[in-house]
This record gives sequence, C-alpha cells and structure tokens, in this order.
Amino acid sequence: MNVVVVGSGIAGLTAALHAHELGHAVTLVTKSALGGGCTPLAQGGVAGGYGPGDGPAAHAADTISAGAGLCDPAAVDALVADGAARIAELRARGVAFDRAPGGALARGREAAHTHARILHAGGDATGAAISAALCAAVQRTPMSVRERTMLLDLIVEAGRIRGITVLRDGGAVEIRADAVILATGGAGQLYAHTTNPIETTGDGIAAALRVGAAIADLEFVQFHPTTLPGVPVFLLSEAVRGEGAVLRDSDGRRFVFDSHPDGELAPRDVVARAIAGQAARQGTPVHLDATGLGADALARRFPTIDRVTRDRGFDWSREPLPVTPAAHYLMGGVVTDRHGRTTIPGLYAAGEIARTGVHGANRLASNSLLEGAVFGARAAAALDEPWPTAAVDITPCPSPTDGTTAADADVAPEPLPPFDRAALQRLLWDEVGLRRNGSGLQRALRIVRGWAVGLPPAVDVRTYEDRNLLLVADATLRAALARPASVGAHHRDDPAPGAPTMAHPSILETA
Ligand code: SIN
Repeated sequence: MNVVVVGSGIAGLTAALHAHELGHAVTLVTKSALGGGCTPLAQGGVAGGYGPGDGPAAHAADTISAGAGLCDPAAVDALVADGAARIAELRARGVAFDRAPGGALARGREAAHTHARILHAGGDATGAAISAALCAAVQRTPMSVRERTMLLDLIVEAGRIRGITVLRDGGAVEIRADAVILATGGAGQLYAHTTNPIETTGDGIAAALRVGAAIADLEFVQFHPTTLPGVPVFLLSEAVRGEGAVLRDSDGRRFVFDSHPDGELAPRDVVARAIAGQAARQGTPVHLDATGLGADALARRFPTIDRVTRDRGFDWSREPLPVTPAAHYLMGGVVTDRHGRTTIPGLYAAGEIARTGVHGANRLASNSLLEGAVFGARAAAALDEPWPTAAVDITPCPSPTDGTTAADADVAPEPLPPFDRAALQRLLWDEVGLRRNGSGLQRALRIVRGWAVGLPPAVDVRTYEDRNLLLVADATLRAALARPASVGAHHRDDPAPGAPTMAHPSILETA
C-alpha cells in the first residue's frame, strides 16, 4: 500500500518506520527538516519506567485523574499496555535512557504522578535523543523523505482519502496515496507565549477541518506552568520541580499550596493558574527556586536548562528564576479510535494532532512522547486491517467542535484592519488562555472571523499557515464557547448558572 505520513516528530517517525517494516511504500512529508517540530525540544521524558509497587494500572489511574474524568479509559489502557513495548523499541533503536548510580534505569517524578516513573535521556534532552535515534533509523531505510514540504490539503474522493496536496518549491503538488497518517502536532503558535516551535501552526487540524473529519476537545489547551520569559520563552521542565525546586511569591512564600495540597506537583492547569494569578496580584513574576538542588546536580541533571539559563544571564544555582506559563500541548484534535482511525476512511492521526481520548481535559506530564510512539505504531499496524464498516468507535465527547453550535451561531464577522499574526496570538492568549469567559470568547470569535473574511489568498508557507491558524482559532473559540463548565485545562470565569463543576475532585482552587 502507498502510505503518506505527514510530520516527523515521534508519532510520524514511529508510524513511518512501522509502516515501512510492515512492507508498505512510505513517503514521509515534513514541513521543516526531518526531525523538526516539538519532539526534539521535549525535556521531560517518557512515562512508563515502572519501579517496585508501580505498574500500568497505577499509571492509568494517574492519567485518568489528571484528565479530570474526561479520558477514554480504553484509550488509556491501550497507552499503558503498549508502553513497555514502545520503550523497549526506543532503546533497541539506540535511545540511551539515563541510569541511576547502581546501573538501573533512573526514574524521575513529575506532577500528578503517584510514582517516580519518568525515563529521561541526556538529563533534559529526552526528545532530542529520541528524535536523533528515530531519524537515523528512517535514514537507514529507502523510504522517500520530503523535507520543507508543507501539507496544504487532504484529497478525499468518494468519501475516502486518496492523498494530499503539498506546497513544495513554491508550487502545489499532489501526492496520491492509499492511506494518510497525520502526525503534524498541535497548534501552539495560536498563542503569544508558547513552548512550541515556529512551525506548529495547526496545519493538519486545519486540513482535517476542511474535509469534515471529526474534531473534538480543542478547548483543552495545556499551559506549561514554568517557562523562562523571553523571545522565545524557554521551557523549565516540570522535572525540576519533581527534583525538589519550589515556586515562591515575592515574599518567598510557597503560594501554590493555597490552591492545591500537592503544591508544586499539583496538576499542571492548577499550578499554571496559580502562577498567573499570583503574578497578577503582586505585579511581578513569581520565581522557581532551584537553589536547594546545588550547582553540580543542576548541571548534571539538567544540562540543557543549565546552559540556556546561563546564556540568558541567570545563575539558577544561586538565584530563583522568573517564570510564566506558556501554551504547551493540545489535548484535543482530530478524533481517532484506538487504532488511529479518523472518521474519514483511509485517514489516520497520531501524536498531538490526534484526540485519542488518552488525555481528557488535562494531559499527565510525560505521556505525550509515549502516546506518539504507541499510537504511531498502532496506526501503522491498522493499515493492514479492513476499515470498519460501522462508524469508527469514537467515545462521545461532551462538546464536539466539528460544527456550529447554538453558542456561536449568531457571531457575525466584524470589519477589521488587516490580519496580523502577532495580534491573533495576543488575542487568543487573552481570551482563550488560562481563563476564559463568554463575552471575551464571543469578541475574539468576531475578530477572528473578520480577519478570515479579509485574508488575501495564500501564496506561500507563511500565508498558508495564517489561513490554518485562523481556521483552528475559530474552531477553538467555538469549542470553548460550547463548554460552559470549568474542567481541567478549560477554566471559565463565568460558569453558566447550574453548569456542573467538573473540576478535578482534589482541587481546592480559589476563584
Ligand atoms: C516538561 O519537561 O515539563 C514537559 C514534559 C511534558 O510536557 O510532558
């Protein structure tokens, strides 16, 4: 079978390798260079390195708890059941996970995990190690790799995927295929502050929206609590808090305990809102204090952070670092079943672009690399299976975002000045960021629709990306409008009267 894989992060690389090893003719398409995107930037590791007293069941329970009750338990079971095999595969392909002094695999702890079960490589360079190993494996195969080739659209004929169109060397080109696996990642570039690289513009989600694939849960955007402000912001891994660093307000107080009994290791959405709220109250950034860990331990355990913070003029072994939340991960996306199958026959999705049901309303730290590997492999394995004749088995989503809802039906475009990407990013940061309310969401939707109407025809990568960002922004705003209750990463300041509070049961958060 001719298979096109779009995207070269962990999900795309795994899917491509598995599809090739199963005998398919694979074309791997990637917008930047092979191995671009978010994966090489991932500092935090791969959940699934179980020690004594831990195992897949405890990992599944933590995943479901972090997901605020909205995970699909069967998808979570698939994640933890296949995790060991995928970690073994990564090791076989050359990823050297870090070892403890006695020689056993070192296991780190991150927020909302009940056990230390995170594997890292190169300290805080896990994604880079994985990306390098998988790219090298791809380069040892004869598969066709098309770099600097941007997905434009999906070709659907008679209800079935038939290939893609791409932008290559300035022109639109068709690549015909029997199956397409989307692994283009999320849409962090919707936001003014994001840990995602510049190319993360929601291209796959937008293409799927244009052909009517089911999309869900776009309102669930995870904001990483701790990034170093600057351009670009720089991730300060949650593992730093896992090793004992603490968050302090301007009086030196560990303020996160006001919001949650787990303090710095509470679920990410809680910590991120606590940081933003405290910074707003005190008028200055809060600080991450890692001074207690010692200069040697910091340099050894977090070599990348140590280097970058020093390059930016900080000595974090002696002074706490200012921190701010930033958009980090999209829990929603293209709806798939447990085999990566979307609602369009022949179209699969894996990794951050996919809404598998694993993450619910809030992803558990270090589950994303694992999900990319597990569901990339599962999508490739499903290529040989007949497409189900019944509708793909999709867990019902409380607020599907694949259509216009009553909440946004009367939102008309308003005339505006020409579109500007930075203005879009600021608008979404303000109105569909850490906290949302109905009037802000409606206002943002009006502006986004005004920009969409006035957008000139796309001619190059930048303008095609702008088109995609506006489409995904529109869908994200509609999704947020359609969910009146706060849950997980979606926090409404104006819950509709009587709307059920679906927040994490252990949250003590103040409004
Ligand atoms: C981190 O290192 O804090 C990021 C890990 C993740 O997002 O899973």
